[in-house]
Amino acid sequence: MADQYLSSRRRLLTSSRPLPDFDVVAASGPWLHCSDGRQVFDGSSGLICVNVGQGSTAVFSRIEKQFSRATFGGAAVVQPHVQMELMDRLCHAVGRPNDSVALVTCGTLAVEVAIGLARNIARVRGGTQRGDILTSNLSYHGMSALTLALAGNHARRPRLEDALGLGPAFPAPYPPAHDHADRACDASCADEVAKAIDSRGADNVAAVLLEPVSGTTGGAHVPPDGYLRRVSEICRERGVLVLHDEVLTGLWRTGTPLASNHWDGAEPDLCILSKGLGAGYTAVGAVLVSPDIAPLIRHQDADPLPAMGTMATHPLQAAACLGVLDELESMDRDAFTARGERLGEFLRGLVGLGPVRDVRGLGHLYGLEVWPGLLWPLMKEAERRGVFFYPFTGAGPRSEGLVVAPPLTSTDEDIDFLTTALSDAVTALS
Ligand SMILES: Cc1ncc(COP(=O)(O)O)c(C=O)c1O
Repeated sequence: MADQYLSSRRRLLTSSRPLPDFDVVAASGPWLHCSDGRQVFDGSSGLICVNVGQGSTAVFSRIEKQFSRATFGGAAVVQPHVQMELMDRLCHAVGRPNDSVALVTCGTLAVEVAIGLARNIARVRGGTQRGDILTSNLSYHGMSALTLALAGNHARRPRLEDALGLGPAFPAPYPPAHDHADRACDASCADEVAKAIDSRGADNVAAVLLEPVSGTTGGAHVPPDGYLRRVSEICRERGVLVLHDEVLTGLWRTGTPLASNHWDGAEPDLCILSKGLGAGYTAVGAVLVSPDIAPLIRHQDADPLPAMGTMATHPLQAAACLGVLDELESMDRDAFTARGERLGEFLRGLVGLGPVRDVRGLGHLYGLEVWPGLLWPLMKEAERRGVFFYPFTGAGPRSEGLVVAPPLTSTDEDIDFLTTALSDAVTALS
């Protein structure tokens, strides 16, 4: 790191974990070029967001074109043409062509806006007291006081009093609460959601909020088949909305446009996107609202729309996202799917070797859980071989591992580099 910044480093408040601090002087695609001459492969797509790699010319040309037109113009000031273009492209890309969309500036805010919209909708539909939002004990929905209070990530919100009486409401369908090692599960763990709603009284509950596939909290756990469908049925029977937090999983991270696409009958009422949409080029979040319920937001009895912010629907942000969609939609889908499957197969082959305790995941998103005490040594060994991985926290203090989530645009050679480095790192600790 350049000398003039060394003394400033402690004043920049970021992660409290001792994460690596690459002094990156350039980046291209999935590669980081460091000032000491090292090249590091970004095995976790930054914070699982750099989904189309860095330095995309498609993204640059979209931003450049918009820059020469206008650099500000929110929906309340001028006709938001570029934002509407983004809305249409995005909705088609994820197979929800008639949804209404709120565009905001990050994942946390998208979750907050989704909560506001869900409460508005639920109250118009079912009575004014419907305000509760129920989440699982293994979940992360953002860094604001409200989203930290609601979710079940103990590392990020260790104190019970900071849950503000909200807190997680039901156990996630994953170990240790639910072990589906034999995959013979009948998804009855979804009944925990029914119990949570019924114990509050359905009339008090606006929505159930969940990650259809877990991200950095849990480490890419995949729910048993039938779980999401059953949760949707339970909620529908009780007049409760289903909110999917696809901040991390949305836009092909798990191999399909949305993670919920892996199962029939799992479509949510509201879907929240962020990381894959901006792909690290811009701060953005989007809330998609299904057409069955979106009209209720403008109902005469509805509360005001909680969806406008100064920088929301910013034209440069929308232009960058259009460039990201250009990249994603030009991928060779078959080759992409095959690469994800090959990566998963390789990782599952590591289970039982040295530090590797378990592997789960889908597409280009995997959690490689390690035995206690071996996370940082494994990260170090991987880094020594030129690959960076971001860590995840699991269900308990002794559950942790690496998120293996390379950019979706990685080539076969890139994936070979990652798997060779990881395999050697595992061997070094065996
Ligand atoms: C599932 C999930 N929801 C919400 C968020 C919050 O998004 P942001 O960091 O953009 O505020 C994250 C971030 O990691 C996430 O993984």
